[in-house]
Formats: sequence, structure tokens, C-alpha cells
Amino acid sequence: MSKTIAGFSKLSKSKKIDWIVDTYFSNAEDAKAILKQYWNTNDNLQQLHDEFIENTISNYYLPLGVAPNFLINETLYTIPMAIEESSVVAAASKAAKFWLERGGFKTKVISTTKIGQVHFIYKGDFEKLKQYFGYVKSKLIEDTEAITKNMKKRGGGILDIELRDKTSDIDNYYQLHASFETLDAMGANFINSCLEQFAKTFKNEALTFDLFSESEQQIDIIMSILSNYVPDCLVRAEVSCPVEELGEGNNFSGKDFANKFIQAVNIAEIEPYRAVTHNKGIMNGIDAVVLATGNDFRAVEAGVHAYASRKGRYSSLTHAKVEHGIFTFWMEIPLALGTVGGLTGLHPLVKLALELLHKPSAKELMQIVAVAGLAQNFAALRSLTTTGIQQGHMKMHLMNILNQFEANAEEKLTLTEHFKNNTVTHSAVIEALNKLRVSSEK
Ligand code: MEV
Repeated sequence: MSKTIAGFSKLSKSKKIDWIVDTYFSNAEDAKAILKQYWNTNDNLQQLHDEFIENTISNYYLPLGVAPNFLINETLYTIPMAIEESSVVAAASKAAKFWLERGGFKTKVISTTKIGQVHFIYKGDFEKLKQYFGYVKSKLIEDTEAITKNMKKRGGGILDIELRDKTSDIDNYYQLHASFETLDAMGANFINSCLEQFAKTFKNEALTFDLFSESEQQIDIIMSILSNYVPDCLVRAEVSCPVEELGEGNNFSGKDFANKFIQAVNIAEIEPYRAVTHNKGIMNGIDAVVLATGNDFRAVEAGVHAYASRKGRYSSLTHAKVEHGIFTFWMEIPLALGTVGGLTGLHPLVKLALELLHKPSAKELMQIVAVAGLAQNFAALRSLTTTGIQQGHMKMHLMNILNQFEANAEEKLTLTEHFKNNTVTHSAVIEALNKLRVSSEK
């Protein structure tokens, strides 16, 4: 039976677990054993994980895989991916290999500007607010000096602050709309600290601004927060090759492949039902690398999908064309990533993933992550427009089904061999496994 509890966060870890298992589980000991099975035997490492969040009761594992053979701007990468979906790493590896033989991926960071806003209510004359903003702007920047000093030394910091009139949407609503360069940091803490200081200065200075009436001096700060919409923190990834080369090693012509592929992209450009799934496939690659490198995949997801809707209709993030006999497939996406700060210096596997990627700068990581997304989309569209997705997907899923039915090593070996030439479906696997078990009983 569910019940409420006061002061849960103050309990020790083992008391928390006791309460959870006693309250929610019919077999408390079994539940406790599962939670403990996932604890790290290294106490320091476990403590590190315990302290990432509040109320940690165990660790939640995802596989960390790698996709080798990614040639990006003439440098070879093996890309780390943290993901549970069976076919994603295999698909990435396949796409990497395909493009390795056709010149690799070309990437470019287009821009790196991030945005934060102070949202406020001002009930008064807009002309006076504009004058106040002109007067206070330099003070806003001055007052963040302690926060921005180090970032400025490295070449980043506050780029600009604008006053924005939003009163046509909400009465008396305005913004300080600020732009930032945060270099190798994702920058959330930096930006939010600057914004909160802007808000304080902006409110306080208004109290003594002579032109304001008494009521105008009372600026009401609603909130100060960075935006995860980063259309000016943009990276481009691209592959291209002569159309004929697309068909090499396949039983279809490059021209037929390119035509179908481009139609598939066109459909995702105009049809939101398809675009969402199409982009989900891109995010399979992106999230997996974002997660493996300790970045905030929720921020990336929110920003990317907003960008996919920027023209008023949710649309494909990737594009494809054939021009002068050359097939080109590309994507531009917003990615606010960091390679310093946050988990990057804390989580041992994140450190390892970054080292595997030659310790990239944030700009380099943007390019690698974009490539993982483009590769994933290429692999998905290639399957969808040729063999269909289930063939590859179910082959990879075979092991999950076998594990679900507790197949032993020998059964796995036999059935993996069997399904090399047979279609994998849930029922076909169960049937084959049962048959095998019956025949081995005889
Ligand atoms: C599955 O996780 C992703 C795909 O559905 C993407 C797509 O349809 O393009 C295969």
C-alpha cells in the first residue's frame, strides 16, 4: 500500500531502501537484493554516484558501446554510445564503414552563441524603460564581473543584452535577452548565475532611477533562466559521393537508391508524422553520444525539436539532394554541449569516453555528435528504403528475446546461427527455442 513519508531525504541510504522495499514490494528481500546487485563494490565510486542526485537507492545501468571507423574531417574516431536499443550501435557502425569508403563525414561549426533571459513585468512608459535600459546596461555587465572573469580570460563571456518588448503577447511583459559565449562549457551554471545577477541589478537600480515614477520603479522579476533553444549554436554535418558509388556492393543501382532515399527525406520534410520518427532515429545517435560524454540529453532533445519546428511545421532535420551526379546528405542542428564542467570531470566513464574521442573541445564534440545523428539517419533510411527496418532490428533484438527466455550459451549459439537464414519474429524465436529444448531432452 502506498503511503506518504516525511523527511525521506534525511534517512540513511539503507533506511531509505528499507522503507521502499517494505512499502512497495511483496518480497522485500528480493527487491533489496536487486537494488544491491547494481551497487558498485568500490565504495568511493558508489559514493560518487550516490552524491550525483538526492535519494539514490541504486545505479541504473545502460550498455556503453562503441562505433568505430568514423572518418570526420580526415580524423578517425571510435564513437562511444550509451544506449539500450539493440540496433543503434550496429547501425552507426555500418554507416561509418559505408562512408569511410566514400570520403567520410565533413563537418563545420556554424555558430556557438547561447541565450538566457530575465523575464519581468514593468507597468509603465516603454520609452522610460528603454532609457533605463540604456543607463543600466553597462552596470548589468559590470556587476557580473566576478562571475565572468575567468570565462572572459579564456575568450568567452557575455556577448550582448537586449531589451525585448513582449507586451503584445502578455500585458506589461518584457525581457532582458542576453547572449553568451561559453567556450568548452555547456554553460548552464555560468549563464544562470549571470542572469540572476542581471535581475538583481536591474531591479535594484530601478528603485533610484529618477525618470521612473514610484510605481515604475517597482520592476517585478518573474524568473531568470537560460534557454535550451539554441538556434545560433549550430553545427553542420554532411556526406557526399558520386551517385553510382551509392550502389557499390549492393544489389540495387546507386541512382535508384538515391531517388528513393531523397523521397524518404522529402516525405519527412513535409509530413510531421514521419518527421517525428525520422528525427527520433537521428536522436538515437545523438542522445547516445551526448549521454556517454556526460552531457544533458534533455536540453539537447528540447532544443533540437524546437529547431525542427522553427518554420511553423515540425520537419526533418536532415536534407538530401543530387546535383551534377553527386549525392549529398546533410543536417544542421543546434547542440549546446560541454567538455568541461558538469559530469565531464566527475564520472569515470565520461572521462574515458572523452579520452576515446581525443579529448575534444566543445566545438569538436558538437561535430562528432552531429555525425552520429546523421549516420544513424542514413542507416535507418537505407534500411527503410531497401530491406525494411525489421530485418536488421530483429536480428539485433534476437539476443534480448533469447535472454528473456533464459537461453543458455549453447542455445544462443545454435539459434543465432539458425536465424542467420530465417526471419526473426518473437514467435519464431520461441518456437525454435522450444524445439531445440525438446530435441535436447530426447
Ligand atoms: C527506431 O528507433 C528509429 C527508426 O524508426 C528511425 C526511422 O524510422 O527513421 C528506425
